[in-house]
Amino acid sequence: MSSTRNKLIQLLSTHKESYISGQFLSDELNISRSAIWKHMNELKKDGYEIEGKAKKGYRIISYPNKLSENTLSWGLNTEWLGQTIIHKESTTSTQRIAHELALNGAKHGTIVIADEQTKGKGRIDRAFHSNNGKGIWMSMILRPSILPFLAPQLTLLTATVIANVIDDYANIKPQIKWPNDILIHGKKMTGILTEMQAEQDQVLYVIVGTGININQAKEDLPEDIQKKATSLQIETGKHWDMLPMIQQILRTFEKKYSNYINHGFQDVKQTWENYGFRMNERLQIKSGKEEWEGIFLGIAEDGALLAKKDDGKIEKVYSAEISWF
Ligand code: BTN
Repeated sequence: MSSTRNKLIQLLSTHKESYISGQFLSDELNISRSAIWKHMNELKKDGYEIEGKAKKGYRIISYPNKLSENTLSWGLNTEWLGQTIIHKESTTSTQRIAHELALNGAKHGTIVIADEQTKGKGRIDRAFHSNNGKGIWMSMILRPSILPFLAPQLTLLTATVIANVIDDYANIKPQIKWPNDILIHGKKMTGILTEMQAEQDQVLYVIVGTGININQAKEDLPEDIQKKATSLQIETGKHWDMLPMIQQILRTFEKKYSNYINHGFQDVKQTWENYGFRMNERLQIKSGKEEWEGIFLGIAEDGALLAKKDDGKIEKVYSAEISWF
């Protein structure tokens, strides 16, 4: 889209409900009023619903239902999260772009989002399948003033936010599998990847990447994961409009993040445990050569898994292979 048209949308977006006069737009954009009128017609062709009233001017009534910096910003109403949004139709990985931006000083709260990732990145260097227009492939740049060892709390926080939004939206209670997969009916529909740059006692930045499977049909998922993975559409039988869902995730994240920074981890822990997968059940833990069984009690302040051994001792687990019976 031409940069004039983008600026035009931005101007109209910032005025939301009120009309902007053709004269004002023509002065701001330094183009004639008839050029404005032509751009308006092009925008209508793109799916924007624009009202033009004599003596009043123009206003946007609704946006096309596709992701763009403008459609995501319109009506977002956050204070800092998503004040800068970078949207790509196709990219290798939003995580990669977010790192580049963060290293170049991008602001706390910057969002990178794509319709498609050709080289989506999962945890432990696994590939993450991110098909075009079917899910929420998004990375958030955060600059929290927390100690580096507490950064995993942000992953748990993100998981609670996504679980909350799915619960509200689809009226379906997801479960969070430690540390950070979101499951519906036992199958994975969301993965979270948190990466950090830090110096000894200081976090420089954290990138939280979320891959949320929304509108895939079963055949859209790679064959080797079809048994273990799912999407919101597969589980609900409905197609979901992603735009309001992304905005809801950003609004909820902003609120929960501020609460976490100001009041600590307690609320996150409680919500996480409310959605915790197989809480209070017996699990098996394999970590290096060690292998033991216990009862899954929940999560600790530092994001570790808490399990009670058969001798009554409570252990913290940071990284291990977990299986349930
Ligand atoms: C996992 O389950 O292993 C984590 C998956 C994280 C995927 C998201 S999609 C947006 C962001 N960009 C990436 O390349 N990865 C994360």
